[in-house]
Amino acid sequence: MKLWGGRFRKGENKLMEEFNKSFGFDCVLYKKDIEGSLAHVYMQVQVGLLTEEEGKQITEGLQGILADIESGKLALSGDYEDIHSFVEINLIERIGDVGKKLHTARSRNDQVALDMRLYAREKANDMVGHIASLKETIKEVADNNSVIMPGYTHLQRAQVVTFKHHLMAYYNMFDRDEKRIKNALEILDESPLGCGALAGTTHNIDRNITAQKLGFKKPMDNFMDGVSDRDYLLELMSDFSIIMMHLSRLSEELVLWSSQEFKFIEMDDLFTTGSSIMPQKKNPDGAELIRGKTGRVYGNLFALFTVMKGIPLAYNKDMQEDKEGFFDSVKTLEMCIQIMEGMIGTLKVREDNMKKAVKGGFLNATEVADYLVNKNVPFRDAHSIVGQIVIYCEDHNKAIEELELDELLKFSQVFERDIYDFIDYNNIIEKGIKKNLK
Ligand code: ARG
Repeated sequence: MKLWGGRFRKGENKLMEEFNKSFGFDCVLYKKDIEGSLAHVYMQVQVGLLTEEEGKQITEGLQGILADIESGKLALSGDYEDIHSFVEINLIERIGDVGKKLHTARSRNDQVALDMRLYAREKANDMVGHIASLKETIKEVADNNSVIMPGYTHLQRAQVVTFKHHLMAYYNMFDRDEKRIKNALEILDESPLGCGALAGTTHNIDRNITAQKLGFKKPMDNFMDGVSDRDYLLELMSDFSIIMMHLSRLSEELVLWSSQEFKFIEMDDLFTTGSSIMPQKKNPDGAELIRGKTGRVYGNLFALFTVMKGIPLAYNKDMQEDKEGFFDSVKTLEMCIQIMEGMIGTLKVREDNMKKAVKGGFLNATEVADYLVNKNVPFRDAHSIVGQIVIYCEDHNKAIEELELDELLKFSQVFERDIYDFIDYNNIIEKGIKKNLK
């Protein structure tokens, strides 16, 4: 069942036919394909390419196909080349010869360009919703857990932070991600319908009508660009890759924090799995899988970059390869964002262990140096003095705040009683993170 048998003397090689088909994966575009066709028919009637009656028959035929697919009456299966053939052939079967007029002033090239753009637009909007919801959950958990924890550099305890501040770093990353997708949505907001195969059409069509009907800002300016632009997919997949990178970093933290070595959090049973041999195990598989799936989302991006880099204008069949990777990335990302939201929303914070780790890590050493600087000691000297104090503390198995004033005075004469308040962890947070972030 083909749309183009006319100029061929023989049928296609069987393997070639299978090789060429995209119906197995582009069937997910059925709704967008029909939406696009409905807008096209509407325009055909407006400009006089179809009579009102013809337009009505085709419109009803298309709406019937859509309803039957959605209700399960019409299965997305059979020996069709692609979703466009499926819809058109079914239409002609239903309403007869008038259905053959649907494709007047259109090519599958502008048709598929439109379908993918409509699909990408919908999925990108869904993604904005998923990210917004993840952000909300992060904010809620952060607000409920303003407890002190060690902040790290080089994965070595560095300075005191709060769990709230640490989580809110991710909130900010996802906030930028949301903006990036919205920005991509703005750029892709042009309609390729009416670009034809590559050179428009001699028919008196009105691309503004279809662009407006399909909710686009305007028709694309250039026909050849219109049918062969896949930038918006690359842009969205780049955005998706950045989101996966953020999710993967957060996943890595969840894996570390839930380990017996850190014990900063407990992950809920809902998002962990067990071992078939070791009865005690509770593994953070959700986080690990997100970390792992990041690779496949990057891979899909680079596959399409590579597909696109050498193809001349305008449409080439290579471009059919844009679909599976994009669909896979959308599905993967949707799942990963939702799993991450579930993991964050249900984790338990072990405040006691976080506090213990803060105490044991000399996380107020920088503030001891700041104290000395306030008493007019040059910073480099202060740094060196505190270094000596840390060695002393290590030798005596004490935290800096546990030293007597007499002990501190051995390192510098400027220490006074107020040092203890100055290097109290909660006061450090008040003076640093809290004050400077208002
Ligand atoms: N299945 C094709 C694709 O995904 C549809 C466009 C076909 N156009 C063509 N000139 N053969 O790209």
